[in-house]
Amino acid sequence: MRVFLGITGASGAPYAARLLTALAGAGCEIGLCASRAGLEVVATELYGDARLSADETLARLTEPAREAITLYDERDWHSPYASGSAKVDGYVICPCSMGTLGTIASGAMSNLIHRAASVALKEERKLVLMPRETPLSTIHLRNMLTVREAGATVLFLAPGFYHGAESVADLVNFVVGRAVDLIGLDVELVKRWGSE
Ligand SMILES: Cc1cc2nc3c(=O)[nH]c(=O)nc-3n(C[C@H](O)[C@H](O)[C@H](O)COP(=O)(O)O)c2cc1C
Repeated sequence: MRVFLGITGASGAPYAARLLTALAGAGCEIGLCASRAGLEVVATELYGDARLSADETLARLTEPAREAITLYDERDWHSPYASGSAKVDGYVICPCSMGTLGTIASGAMSNLIHRAASVALKEERKLVLMPRETPLSTIHLRNMLTVREAGATVLFLAPGFYHGAESVADLVNFVVGRAVDLIGLDVELVKRWGSE
């Protein structure tokens, strides 16, 4: 399966890191594009150093799944993910900042992440947006409704606690498990409700 993963500047880098290993573990071909703010959040949240260079941040983030990943710059309009003519099975933006959400909702495309999301919507393909902000303004709420009406799935970064989570990793797996389900991968990251 060919999957586009956009990483933008909302809090939630551990979700993105886990999603990468889950997709790679499931044999996916991953096209990865991270915004400048996305890399700053990854550097802050995963490596404790907001000033870590973009190259070093990407190297550390992709290391566990390197073979499965092709990296694209934010301005790489020649990437296959910039066109509907390329075959792509699913698109995920995790985490999705309110800035990126608003841009997608407006139809504007100022980087490859916005463009890939826009392609997914126009081609009626699976697009999972994983936003995070709190509290939410009327503008945020309207933008979420707009993208939902346009065909995207809004998977808010809000883990459930009902499956007996004992660690942050369990909470991360809860959310990432829902994301991989939504793009049709047969991966079980948490015990399913009602199963033995
Ligand atoms: C450490 C850090 C955490 C942030 N957390 C959030 C967040 O949770 N949600 C959000 O919408 N923006 C958050 N921001 C702000 C966005 O990164 C900022 O609006 C940026 O312009 C988004 O650009 P992008 O969508 O191109 O990544 C955060 C920024 C930093 C540096």
